[in-house]
Amino acid sequence: MKDEKTPVAESTLKPITRRNLLQGASAATVVGMVGSRSLAQTGTTDKLAALAASSSADKTKAFPDKFLWGCATAGHQVEGNNTSSDLWLIEHLPESVFKEPSGDACDHYHLYPQDISMLADLGFNTYRFSLEWARIEPEEGFFSNAELEHYRRMLATCREHHLTTLLTYSHFSIPRWFAVKGGWQNPAAPDRYARFCEKATRHLGDLVGYASTFNEPDVPQLLNWINLPGMSGLADALRDNLTKVRQQVNAPEFASFFLGDAKRIRDGLLAAHQKGKAAMKSVRNDMPVGFNLAMSDDQPAPEDSHLAEKRADVYGPWLEVAKQNDYLGVQTYSRTLVGKNQDLPSPKGAETTQVGWEFYPECVEHVVRYASKATGVPIIVTENGIATTDDRRRVEYIQRALAGLKRAIDDGVDVRGYVLWSLLDNFEWMSGFEPKFGIVAVDRATQRRTIKPSAAMLGNIARTNSL
Ligand code: BGC
Repeated sequence: MKDEKTPVAESTLKPITRRNLLQGASAATVVGMVGSRSLAQTGTTDKLAALAASSSADKTKAFPDKFLWGCATAGHQVEGNNTSSDLWLIEHLPESVFKEPSGDACDHYHLYPQDISMLADLGFNTYRFSLEWARIEPEEGFFSNAELEHYRRMLATCREHHLTTLLTYSHFSIPRWFAVKGGWQNPAAPDRYARFCEKATRHLGDLVGYASTFNEPDVPQLLNWINLPGMSGLADALRDNLTKVRQQVNAPEFASFFLGDAKRIRDGLLAAHQKGKAAMKSVRNDMPVGFNLAMSDDQPAPEDSHLAEKRADVYGPWLEVAKQNDYLGVQTYSRTLVGKNQDLPSPKGAETTQVGWEFYPECVEHVVRYASKATGVPIIVTENGIATTDDRRRVEYIQRALAGLKRAIDDGVDVRGYVLWSLLDNFEWMSGFEPKFGIVAVDRATQRRTIKPSAAMLGNIARTNSL
């Protein structure tokens, strides 16, 4: 849609005060304040405002009290210049698996005050973001107070804006020194990680709402099953790439989250979760700790399905550990039909998104039901969303996802929050900046933000706590 390319007025970059926005408390006001033209032009604002007014009174559409409504980002994808990380190194190799380097990304490292203020002004009460371990411990054993202070300021800004924080301690990227020593495959990895967790919690813990040791620690296993257009054999391609990376950086043990031996990485992550969690709790015992699992809505293929095998292989060990956690973060985007040893391609004729996943918002309802039953702990949807340049498809996707989530909650599933991926159009790892997951567009030349209609729509639901 055109609105993603429409620059916003300069004033958008100035902090937008919550008071100003709440004076109107409607999508129309939000759009007026931030200078986006698309909502007003389509008349969507009036409908949204009317919807917000009528739905807040309708108890059947209301979500539980204190429900968390948020957006998520991850350090490497938005901060920019994460130069001490393993991924920065890989991105800049001549034969990189990354389509382009992350560069300045969304410069969220500097622009977080306005981004956080915008999130709150839109109506959200929660922000999920991550620490960059590579900034905090750029060389082994050297911890930067200044970088810890940076994250402390981010957490404090959230508090000023009455946002609950979901803080991910490790979202894929790792320090370069840690990767050179074999990353999660090194037997010393869990202790190295626990030391970082302890330092970070000591510095930041009092401001954290919910902590997560790992974002999607099941992904290394999941890669073996994935089957997307143009990406079949992804796991093999990554294995080949690892050999090249090791040669190019002259580090025979080098391994990152994505590149390495999936089973050894999984074992390292499992042990690191336990030690990291213990380290966090030793500083702040009452801080809720969990992790965020990547969970597709797995459905049996009509013939020769291996659904049970996939679940046991990918989620099994993590769901078992999650039973001891304070909550489970569930991250889901679509469904997959599970065939023999691999997921099947999307059904013929199915609508797919920019990254090739089937448009299937009902995954949220199905996955929270499954995850809750499998673990018995409170569930927070910590990622869900869609990569599209047509924001109308995002609006429909979110509305259907939330309708399904509400059905599950009404049936008694203990879900505490819904966090959308993502606040900003950002660096989608190996795919670069092309996929648009954000409810706010980013012009990367000027770093100007443009609020999309989906942001106002979801912000209104958040503000009224009701569909
Ligand atoms: C990750 C995000 C990613 C998103 C969309 C999740 O796997 O946690 O970092 O951008 O999905 O692919």
